[in-house]
Amino acid sequence: MSNTPVKVAVTGAAGQIGYSLLFRIASGALLGPDTPVQLQLLEIEPALKSLEGVVMELDDCAFPTLAGVEIGSDPNVIFDGANIALLVGARPRTKGMERGDLLSANGAIFTGQGKALNDHAADDIRIGVTGNPANTNALIAMSNAPDIPSERFSALTRLDHNRAISQLAAKLGVPVTEIKKMTIWGNHSATQYPDLFHAEVSGKNAAEAVGDQAWIENDFIPTVAKRGAAIIEARGASSAASAASATIDAARDWIKGSAEGDWISMAVASDGSYGVPEGIISSFPVTTKNGDWEIVQGLEIDDFSRGKIDASVKELEEERDAVKELGLI
Ligand code: NAD
Ligand code: LMR
Repeated sequence: MSNTPVKVAVTGAAGQIGYSLLFRIASGALLGPDTPVQLQLLEIEPALKSLEGVVMELDDCAFPTLAGVEIGSDPNVIFDGANIALLVGARPRTKGMERGDLLSANGAIFTGQGKALNDHAADDIRIGVTGNPANTNALIAMSNAPDIPSERFSALTRLDHNRAISQLAAKLGVPVTEIKKMTIWGNHSATQYPDLFHAEVSGKNAAEAVGDQAWIENDFIPTVAKRGAAIIEARGASSAASAASATIDAARDWIKGSAEGDWISMAVASDGSYGVPEGIISSFPVTTKNGDWEIVQGLEIDDFSRGKIDASVKELEEERDAVKELGLI
């Protein structure tokens, strides 16, 4: 085991997602069994007592890879020297809300945290935003951290990606491992576009394998795009364990690299690829290597996909304009 622990900062650590996420990170699910981790946990003051209880439970697991835990409510302290920051802390939506409705409640959290990361994080920092609305919160954090390269910020669409894989595997009666090259385009919202036209099932085109455009349009896409709301309806609270799992998948693949012959979905700052305006944080198919991502280039986008991508991008532009108006970027 290497001796220097990797510092992983997690915000909203006493929340629902935190309760699953911290134990997975501490057990080695993020960085593997040979890398010690130091958890640096941020919460608002009133939640610190509850967070102390979570830390007692972390202690009680005696995880071999957990080198230490620090908690606090000051991002300038908690982000100090962080190598990875997972920004989860934000209010979740409740029944009847869209994620974008959270912008005014949550957006401001990401200005202060962006500044604190800018001033205190380690030079190799990678930042993943899970708190909703994730894409635009990532844009806010990025805009408030001018010294951190923009490619170090991403927002979570891996949960949507995993949901899309699971729905397709169930439809075709194949193991999830047969499905490759899934893509979520756009926003982590009801406008997102899960794309079967470039995905593959056992090496064959997924849309052709399904052979049912009506199922793709009327079943698959809305089921994936509205899965978060369906979970809120069923559970009475937003997804937590699956969100934690996707947060780990995304950060792990970013750092350790995506699998050969496959790609993943990540919301990253657009470089103008596929006609997505530069700078907005939009989900793309990406490959990752050594902590860097690259947008998969050269995919043919037909009229159906173009319309879906454009609709989600339009929503992201509106969210960007709204946070500009609020003075957050
Ligand atoms: P939760 O309410 O259980 O926990 C959120 C925690 O964040 C709370 O403990 C709260 O005290 C803390 N918090 C609030 N403001 C903070 C701040 N300024 N600094 C640090 N901590 C702060 O919510 P949850 O279920 O854990 O969800 C967290 C967020 O993740 C929500 O916005 C939710 O919508 C989002 N989410 C995103 C995805 C995704 O795929 N991107 C999936 C699921 C949930
Ligand atoms: C999800 O997709 O489950 C989360 O973004 C929570 C939500 O509000 O839907």
